[in-house]
Amino acid sequence: MMNTLTAKDFLTIDDFDIEDRTILVRVDLNSPMDPEGGILDDMRINSHIPTLRDLENAKVVLLAHQSRPGKNDFSTMEAHARIMSGHLDRKVTYIDDIFGTYARSSISAMENGDVILLENVRFYSEESLKRPVSEQQGTHMVRQLAPLFDIFLNDAFAVSHRSQLSIVGFTGLLPCGAGRLMEREITALDKSLKGTECPCIFVLGGAKADDSIKVAENVLSSGGADRVLVTGVVANVMLAASGVDIGEPNMKFIESQGYLGQIDKAKQVLNRFEGKIGLPRDAALNDKGNRVNVSIEEVGSRNLPINDIGLETIVAYSGEIENAKTVVLNGPAGVSEIDGFEIGTFEIIKAAANAEYSIAGGGHITAEVRNMGYEDKFSHISTGGGACIDYLAGDALPGIEALKVAAKKYLDTE
Ligand code: 3PG
Repeated sequence: MMNTLTAKDFLTIDDFDIEDRTILVRVDLNSPMDPEGGILDDMRINSHIPTLRDLENAKVVLLAHQSRPGKNDFSTMEAHARIMSGHLDRKVTYIDDIFGTYARSSISAMENGDVILLENVRFYSEESLKRPVSEQQGTHMVRQLAPLFDIFLNDAFAVSHRSQLSIVGFTGLLPCGAGRLMEREITALDKSLKGTECPCIFVLGGAKADDSIKVAENVLSSGGADRVLVTGVVANVMLAASGVDIGEPNMKFIESQGYLGQIDKAKQVLNRFEGKIGLPRDAALNDKGNRVNVSIEEVGSRNLPINDIGLETIVAYSGEIENAKTVVLNGPAGVSEIDGFEIGTFEIIKAAANAEYSIAGGGHITAEVRNMGYEDKFSHISTGGGACIDYLAGDALPGIEALKVAAKKYLDTE
């Protein structure tokens, strides 16, 4: 699939003298949230604790995002700081500023052992602009923050597939390396890659249809997967692309997420990889909270939202998954937080647990794996969703590439 990394491809905390240093750490705390702003699953927050423990003699400033502009859970980082304080047993101070005077003066006043969590970095629009790394380094945020720090650590494996400012902007300016979670993810995924055997199936679901279509194309063209099974929103986009009438509520949902343009893209991918992408045969519709199972041909006439894959699809998918040697799960099969619509996700998790190698990635599905007590039945549970599948598909992740470039520069000058 791809060349795995070797120890000195990137630096780690062990390569730095961290005592008394001011360290900027990019973390990924992006978590499922309820409409009241409560965090539904704290796995990602908890996963950075080993890094923070190893930095307790330094001044640590955390930079993170929650969701994307326009989404309901695009929120401040206040709740994340509270939960992190509980896990760390030390105060994590939330600062409602990213790089303004308040943030900068708070950083300058820090003492060893202090931890600050800055505001949602995606509140700043330049964060999400796609630009080459060299340009990211000249932006306002980087110019304002970089002089305050001695070291930059990227511990945010889960967002390292994005060439965003906070991921790649500091790497050319500050000595930089990987945090403990980043190290753990790379080691575990590399180990899985070495053991990967065919047939390999990727099961793609969740809400990020654009990412999933790209991954389906990547893994099928690189030979990283023999087959892709789709569920969730990407399944609806692919069904629409293959000419199925998925009904007005489901088309409206696709439109509201900005995915109408993905239908044409999905058509091309389906044509190019004919027979390699499994689509649902039936669906579970939500009729005032009740699960109604209908065939795919019937969906359009019922005018109800699709909230899960149907029973026939569950049986067919489970059969394929159980017989695979390697299974990668990304994203839930349906709206698993609604009672009755978690069945598809549960059954797919159960089937994947029977495969020889099984990897689950992404916030929602890994939360379900843990709720079911199935952690030990998986070869690896990644904090990354898109990042995990991109890595397994052999894609170079900009965040990791930037660490490699920085390590080479550092080692060459030693
Ligand atoms: C994730 O949840 O996969 C990461 O936090 C990245 O989020 P994004 O897909 O909104 O960039």
